[in-house]
Amino acid sequence: RKKVTLGTLRSLHRRREPITVMTAHDFPSGLVADHAGMDMVLVGDSLAMVALGMEDTSEVLLEEMLLHCRSVARAVKSAFTVGDLPMGTYEIAPEQGLATAIRFIKEGRVQSVKLEGGREMAPTIRKITTAGIPVLGHVGLTPQRQNALGGFRVQGKTRDGAMRILEDALAIQDAGCYAMVLEAVPADVAALITEKLSVPTIGIGAGAGTSGQVLVQTDMTGNFPPGRFLPKFVKQYGNVWGEAMRAIEAYRDEVKSGQYPAQEHTYPAAKEEIEAFKQ
Ligand code: KIV
Ligand code: NA
Repeated sequence: RKKVTLGTLRSLHRRREPITVMTAHDFPSGLVADHAGMDMVLVGDSLAMVALGMEDTSEVLLEEMLLHCRSVARAVKSAFTVGDLPMGTYEIAPEQGLATAIRFIKEGRVQSVKLEGGREMAPTIRKITTAGIPVLGHVGLTPQRQNALGGFRVQGKTRDGAMRILEDALAIQDAGCYAMVLEAVPADVAALITEKLSVPTIGIGAGAGTSGQVLVQTDMTGNFPPGRFLPKFVKQYGNVWGEAMRAIEAYRDEVKSGQYPAQEHTYPAAKEEIEAFKQ
């Protein structure tokens, strides 16, 4: 497969072909997303929960994001890669955002960065894009601001709310975003915002009227124990947890019963040498 570039994404958008985006957090999850033909692979700060066992994304450190970006970048040969700037590494000033974005390119080895926020982030987005680093925006529900938003809630349900998201989307588009994530927005609002923009929207919990979709890989492959809460918008396409449990339980049973390892799993030795060794 040919390497996906910003030009590829632009032509998908022009042809109205949905852009497929998947998160990855390490070498194997990057490899499988790339092999499955994703247009983009995002190292989201959701790795705080799915890979590092943290409660929320506010805890993940810049160095941790960079380590995981680098491992995903080694795996991805075709998809366009994005690294998520973690909370606290870009909000202080445009210069801070640019310095962090440069570390994602140089140390994280990704091709672009994502950051959360609307019009207030426009100067930062402009600073980063002007330096030649593509920026993916993120409006609607912005999980890094969950404490201020009062939890994980649908955004833009009212006329004023929808208008605020549209104005934020236009502001970050003008600042130079090549695309933006629209998270947890009513489907008809997301479709209308998508129509009013010239850059693609990547929806998550935003319906079918966006220019593309993104899901968190561990959610959609079912790589978590039963009973975990999943947001309404997640479709679980697989049962990776169940398959790993089946394999590991079978291994446990076979080791306990002496079935494993069998003859075929052992190395033969030179017969006379071993007879001598036994003396
Ligand atoms: O961190 C993440 O995985 C994300 C996507 C869900 C957009 O930001
Ligand atoms: Na994120």
